[in-house]
Amino acid sequence: MATKATSAKKAPAAPAPRVAAAKKAAAASDGRADTAKAPDAADIDAPVRPADRNQPLVQPILNQQRDAVAPLQKFGTVAQRLPIGLSEQVRQESVTMLNQLLADTITLRDMYKKHHWQVVGPTFYQLHLLYDKHYEEQSELVDTIAERIQILGGVAVAMAADVAELTSIPRPPKDREEAPVQVSRLLEAHQIMLKNCHDFAKRADDSGDDGTNDLVVSDVMRTNEMQVWFVSEHVVNTPLAKAE
Ligand SMILES: [Fe+2]
Repeated sequence: MATKATSAKKAPAAPAPRVAAAKKAAAASDGRADTAKAPDAADIDAPVRPADRNQPLVQPILNQQRDAVAPLQKFGTVAQRLPIGLSEQVRQESVTMLNQLLADTITLRDMYKKHHWQVVGPTFYQLHLLYDKHYEEQSELVDTIAERIQILGGVAVAMAADVAELTSIPRPPKDREEAPVQVSRLLEAHQIMLKNCHDFAKRADDSGDDGTNDLVVSDVMRTNEMQVWFVSEHVVNTPLAKAE
């Protein structure tokens, strides 16, 4: 058999000096001696030794979250890291406002995706596409707001459970709802966001945080107002075929 004969000829390559040295260095650096036992096969957390001991051990250091002593920075605090000409008090106030806007924007973004999936009826196609467009726009806002929080030295809220605790937008049911109900929910959420935007923009202006004021007005407020327009027109009761 030609294949067998060919493979039989292939003897394992002799260990290259460079590879052997790397293996030795890796073992020395983490305190493991060459006499270390092979890990139990059932222990998925144990370092995995290559079958060929001439191979260097290249293994990620896993599960470091278990022994983490303290976070780098607590949520709700601000650190003076970047020289952006704003006092800690101003940055703290802006970070608190922006985290509220962030939690509400994440919630609204996700509500758009829920409705994108669940919409039914004769306006299905239009709303399906419109909801997804607005989802993408809200997604961009999420990133813009979160990065502004980090620039100010704060910690951006991120995970769904934390967002749910913080948001001021009422939680919609898991159920599928009629299109006009979806639209009404979205408009209520936009209104909550926009009221906050007016308040936060004024406070940021008063405190001298022009960057936050600009973000709230130019990005968050303008985007939400535009979306309110597009969504609202779907619940205007107009004749479809014959003028009344
Ligand atoms: Fe989709």
